[in-house]
Amino acid sequence: MTKNPRSWPKNTFIFGGVALWAVLLISCTMVDRTVVAPPQVAGATFVGSKECAQCHEETVKGFDTATHAKLIVQGENAKGLGCESCHGPGSKHVQAGGGKGTIVNPGKSPEACFQCHLDKRGEFSLPHSHPVMAGKMTCTECHNPHKGNVVARTGAAELETPNETCTKCHTAQKGPFLFKHNAMVEGCTVCHNPHGSVNQKMLVQRDANLCLKCHLEHPAVAGNGTIMAGGEDHRTRLQNGTCWVVGCHEDVHGSNASKAMRY
Ligand code: HEC
Ligand code: HEC
Ligand code: HEC
Ligand code: HEC
Ligand code: HEC
Ligand code: HEC
Ligand code: HEC
Repeated sequence: MTKNPRSWPKNTFIFGGVALWAVLLISCTMVDRTVVAPPQVAGATFVGSKECAQCHEETVKGFDTATHAKLIVQGENAKGLGCESCHGPGSKHVQAGGGKGTIVNPGKSPEACFQCHLDKRGEFSLPHSHPVMAGKMTCTECHNPHKGNVVARTGAAELETPNETCTKCHTAQKGPFLFKHNAMVEGCTVCHNPHGSVNQKMLVQRDANLCLKCHLEHPAVAGNGTIMAGGEDHRTRLQNGTCWVVGCHEDVHGSNASKAMRY
């Protein structure tokens, strides 16, 4: 289910140390986060996405719909940076009539993405994270850079089709289950951070709050001090630990044994 780590030609491309581009070129209009700069290719200049179309017609065609196609570069000589925002400047590649080693292929490393999404390096460095830093997974296993919405949405309209982005690898959580947990309709990310987390199993919360955010019944109704969920006071039960400890609701994704999400 994972790809082999591919080697990254460190000598060919220079990342970082290009703050000048950030000031001159990348004043993107759609930005509400830190955008640094596209990757660099030593000695190459930007040519614009139209050039790419000569040889990569299909990719350029589909790119109209892509999230990153909306990146707008301002300033003199501004070209639709598009393709080159991830692949780096393409002049050498174009001059050479294409070919490998003259342009960045971010499929081999997340570094091209980190150029702009600085915070993601941190998320993937958390103790519980998808093994992207180890080179065992790439961003594109969950994000399509070339076409459509870059985030393959995880919210599923139907319980029967939960979260295909995740279940293509995590088949155990796919179901179908005899007893479904309706939380799954909201998508896996209601409970898991897809990148990484300080919590075990990349959970967004480490304790009963993960469940109580949906299941806590109003304290005012139940009276002071009670923790009402599923119509029962869970105060003493929660002394056992989380809601999903053995003996409680250990089958959080859905169960074939019990409506109460148990084995
Ligand atoms: C003159 C034709 C031509 C033009 C113009 C061109 N390419 Fe290419 N490109 C190629 C060829 C040929 C390959 C090699 C395909 C292969 O070997 O599989 C290639 C490969 C690539 C690769 C993969 C490189 C690798 O090392 O795996 C990327 C990424 C790429 N092109 C992006 C671009 C971008 C972005 C542009 C526009 C700035 C562009 N190309 C313009 C012909 C072209
Ligand atoms: C958001 C970043 C991003 C943008 C923008 C982008 N690409 Fe890519 N491109 C990637 C990634 C990541 C890969 C590696 C895909 C993989 O390995 O699955 C890739 C791979 C490629 C390849 C090599 C495909 C192969 O099979 O090896 C070509 C050619 C290419 N892109 C062309 C383009 C062109 C042309 C554009 C503009 C129309 C473009 N890209 C825009 C991120 C991007
Ligand atoms: C040149 C800078 C740049 C590069 C390189 C880049 N991105 Fe982005 N990306 C952006 C900007 C700007 C946005 C839009 C942010 C917004 O709308 O808040 C964005 C949006 C996104 C989003 C959607 C955010 C949302 O809220 O819907 C994802 C996912 C994403 N990028 C992934 C990637 C991946 C994966 C790569 C590498 C293959 C990559 N990006 C490379 C600048 C970049
Ligand atoms: C295991 C699947 C997976 C991988 C691998 C992955 N992402 Fe994501 N990413 C997601 C999902 C799912 C969302 C949507 C989260 C949501 O809607 O709550 C997301 C959201 C995002 C966003 C927008 C929201 C935010 O958190 O800022 C960005 C930007 C992003 N990812 C960048 C990246 C980059 C860069 C990489 C690689 C270094 C990457 N992702 C790898 C699944 C993944
Ligand atoms: C390309 C395959 C792939 C995709 C897609 C994928 N994962 Fe993973 N996932 C993995 C791998 C590999 C691990 C690490 C397993 C390990 O270290 O034993 C992992 C680990 C996890 C873990 C932690 C498991 C543990 O035992 O600690 C959770 C939770 C998880 N993924 C949830 C998700 C979610 C949610 C999504 C969708 C946003 C997703 N995954 C998409 C491959 C994938
Ligand atoms: C209602 C919250 C919730 C939702 C929604 C959810 N998970 Fe989980 N998931 C958990 C909890 C809690 C654990 C920890 C179970 C444990 O440690 O015994 C877990 C554990 C996991 C694990 C680790 C394997 C295991 O069973 O310990 C994987 C992989 C995983 N989830 C994937 C997914 C995927 C894929 C989705 C979406 C299809 C998803 N989860 C949706 C709460 C959730
Ligand atoms: C996003 C909201 C959400 C989250 C988070 C959530 N649930 Fe649920 N859960 C639901 C919904 C909706 C139902 C079905 C309606 C109902 O019975 O309240 C449900 C049903 C259940 C049921 C079955 C109740 C019955 O008797 O039919 C159990 C047990 C359960 N959840 C346990 C958990 C546990 C344990 C967690 C934390 C790991 C959790 N839930 C997190 C929304 C959520």
